[in-house]
Amino acid sequence: AYVNGCYKNMRDASVNIEDRGFQFADGVYEVCEIRGGRIVDLPRHLGRLQHSLSELRIALPMALPALSVIMHEVVRRNRVNYGIVYLQITRGVARRDHGFPAASVPPSVVVSARSLNFAKNQNTAAHGIKVITYPENRWPRVDIKSVALLPNVLAKQAAREAGAYEAWYVDVDGFVTEGSSSNAWIITHDGVLVTRAATDAILSGITRAVLIDALATMQLTLEQRPFTPQEAIQAAEAFVTASSQIVMPVVMIDGKAIADGIPGRITRKLREEFHRFAL
Ligand code: PDD
Repeated sequence: AYVNGCYKNMRDASVNIEDRGFQFADGVYEVCEIRGGRIVDLPRHLGRLQHSLSELRIALPMALPALSVIMHEVVRRNRVNYGIVYLQITRGVARRDHGFPAASVPPSVVVSARSLNFAKNQNTAAHGIKVITYPENRWPRVDIKSVALLPNVLAKQAAREAGAYEAWYVDVDGFVTEGSSSNAWIITHDGVLVTRAATDAILSGITRAVLIDALATMQLTLEQRPFTPQEAIQAAEAFVTASSQIVMPVVMIDGKAIADGIPGRITRKLREEFHRFAL
């Protein structure tokens, strides 16, 4: 892992206990997919990173090309062919005090990478995943990819304990916002893809953005609007998108099967074709 200027073995990689990421979850992160040893869509991830940092007024600790070099180096050192690279930037190390530290305190930078089991991921996708619904209980700025993920942790755990893979947040108006670590999609019986518009209420997923661009080429219709769990259960297909899973079919919501309970045809096609459109 890369930690504040040094490459270290994972077991020796650690941060100061006064790091504001540890004390206050005062930091942001990115997760990118690695495929064939390449980091997928890195420029878009770095663009979103800049958005997160600037919204929280954390300084960019180095130029983006330098960050990119470090990320590639960590991937190389870990010999990852298929997996993920994780980047975290916090407001740095300072004596615990809620207000920002002095401007001279440098942000902390951590990068790690690990292999994922491709066959296992494909197998999960072949069967499709179950989701549960869960009350939206996050702050209203989830467009910022902050490391403050306690509500996401609790939602994911609730899903696991219910024998499901993901939890879909449902807002006070009864509409799905997104998953605890993914964006939520449905496909109507007319073949229209529906996902919520990227406002402050969801994280603007990179996988989601790539897919939206791909849909135009594939001549599929997109509607960016909220949908209810009921509409999702009655939909023709459903899926989630995230860098670590790309397009992952959803076959059951709150114990109710979607269509015939197997991954949908369009969803499978989108999963197969995704990397033609990813950078
Ligand atoms: N999660 N929504 C939330 C709340 C997420 O945490 C993520 C990603 C997404 C999908 O974004 P993208 O397509 O850019 O990965 C949507 C990452 C993978 C994670 O926390 O591990």
